[in-house]
Amino acid sequence: MFNTDTITRFSQSETPFYYYDLNVLRQTLSACREASSKYGFHVHYAMKANFNPRVLDTIQSFGFGADCVSGNEVKAAIEHGFDNNKVVFAGVGKSDKEINAALDADIFCFNVESVQELEVIDDLAAAKGKVANVAIRINPNVDAHTHHYITTGLDENKFGINTWQLNDVATALRTLKNIQFVGIHFHVGSQITDLEVYKSLCLRINEMQDWFEEHGFKVKVLNTGGGLGVDYYNPDTNTIGDFESYFKVFKDFLNVKPGQEVHFELGRVLVAQSAALISSVLYVKNGQKKNFLVLDAGMTELMRPMLYQAYHAIENLSRRDNAQAPGTKYDVVGPICESTDCFRKDVELPVSQRGDLIAIRTAGAYGEVMASGYNLRDRILSVYSEH
Ligand code: LLP
Repeated sequence: MFNTDTITRFSQSETPFYYYDLNVLRQTLSACREASSKYGFHVHYAMKANFNPRVLDTIQSFGFGADCVSGNEVKAAIEHGFDNNKVVFAGVGKSDKEINAALDADIFCFNVESVQELEVIDDLAAAKGKVANVAIRINPNVDAHTHHYITTGLDENKFGINTWQLNDVATALRTLKNIQFVGIHFHVGSQITDLEVYKSLCLRINEMQDWFEEHGFKVKVLNTGGGLGVDYYNPDTNTIGDFESYFKVFKDFLNVKPGQEVHFELGRVLVAQSAALISSVLYVKNGQKKNFLVLDAGMTELMRPMLYQAYHAIENLSRRDNAQAPGTKYDVVGPICESTDCFRKDVELPVSQRGDLIAIRTAGAYGEVMASGYNLRDRILSVYSEH
């Protein structure tokens, strides 16, 4: 499983860096492929979670499709060998340039988020003499019970088309000649650990497909979105996601008709456990009230703790042999000139020193890709372990 022993091998490299364990990635992908193919389900990797080139190549080699949210992601998917027939393009604000690029790439389908967008895609497709496949992203109004910043399927969110607008959608689909309706798309949120949420989603999808069929539309694709969560607290004992239970919910509760395809857009659960952010302790500041470990990585390298109060396990790799010895509590902070630049307060760790190597775990999803150049920081490096 995730092999922290090999990390010290890379520690001669400059820190901070993202350490990728490609073996964990492959085991995860293989578990997902096995569990989904049992029911004939199709998985598109949500590229936004991590578009590191080595990660993309590995995922592509397992035969997954790609779920993209920008023209550049569509371009990268094609460049990395994803089959254009397995590329979908979602997003609430696709620009004309991005739509044109996706039309040129002959992707499988656009997940459309408004009636206006249907009209724009129709216009642009007509100008190219093409017919674009579209799936309607419906806002299911299902509460994902996740952090409110990453919930997406509620009426108050900007995503998708609300059910009271469906008559307008039907009219547009009937009148516009350069779009072809292929199915319906949903996404309720991210880091979902309660599978009951997916049961509610299935029931909603069943209602919605009935609505479309009653209005004379053939629903070929049911796209359930992504969102399956990972265990940030136990990365070593719970490394591979529970794909079996996840897909079984859809097998049990989704009303799949003969000839229909079921699509999934998983991001986080495929990549999160395969990487750690490795950083060095620059300074240990012992105060009267607080002790601080000042790292050479900060919110510019991993923003999740600062943006969503997200928990990531933190380990001192240099002191693993005396991990049981009485430790002390540190606020683990970065070097950025913002008070919010703190990975976590009061982390129990072995007594640490300047130069110690610190691992911040479960950083493979929404880590490297959300890094920024704030404070004119260097771009973070990535290293890969194959074993
Ligand atoms: N499909 C759609 C339409 C999405 O909006 C997303 C994620 C996914 C699929 C993939 O969801 P996943 O399986 O990765 O949960 N930056 C945040 C997460 C934002 C997720 C945005 N949408 C974080 O670091 O937690």
